[in-house]
Amino acid sequence: MKVLSDTTVKRIKEEILPRYPEVTSAILPSLWEVQRELGWVSADAVKDIAEVLNVPAELVFDTLSFYTMFQKRPVGKFHIQVCTNVSCDLLGAMGVVEAFKKQLGVEVGETTQDGMFSLSTVECLGACGEAVVVQINDEYYTGVTPEKVAEILETLKRSA
Ligand code: FES
Repeated sequence: MKVLSDTTVKRIKEEILPRYPEVTSAILPSLWEVQRELGWVSADAVKDIAEVLNVPAELVFDTLSFYTMFQKRPVGKFHIQVCTNVSCDLLGAMGVVEAFKKQLGVEVGETTQDGMFSLSTVECLGACGEAVVVQINDEYYTGVTPEKVAEILETLKRSA
């Protein structure tokens, strides 16, 4: 293995694989497992997954590239994803994006120098009724306004 820990390999082999009749069905949850461990999925991680599952690496690459929720490059400890799709856009998503940019001193697609925060914009997060929606790691923040951004960041910094 190039990058996967023994724990992750064990989890894929003993917990994920037995759940599925077809080995290819285990690719998606294996990718999640790797992202949970490493924060993103590198080319080496893809090769490791392919080796553990005994499937062609191309199959794992195809799955990885199809889904936008997988990170293909390193991200900060906190990955801030602001939904800018229609409902969120109408309720001021761009103002929220601007507030994050200003507070963090980064552009969309960048990570702060201390490696703490990455900022992205994403398509619909599926919680349109509670726009503006921001996903930070696995947690959803709803009804976000530019005024709430500083408080959100403070809470995250305290929890780091
Ligand atoms: S448009 Fe933002 S969650 Fe659907």
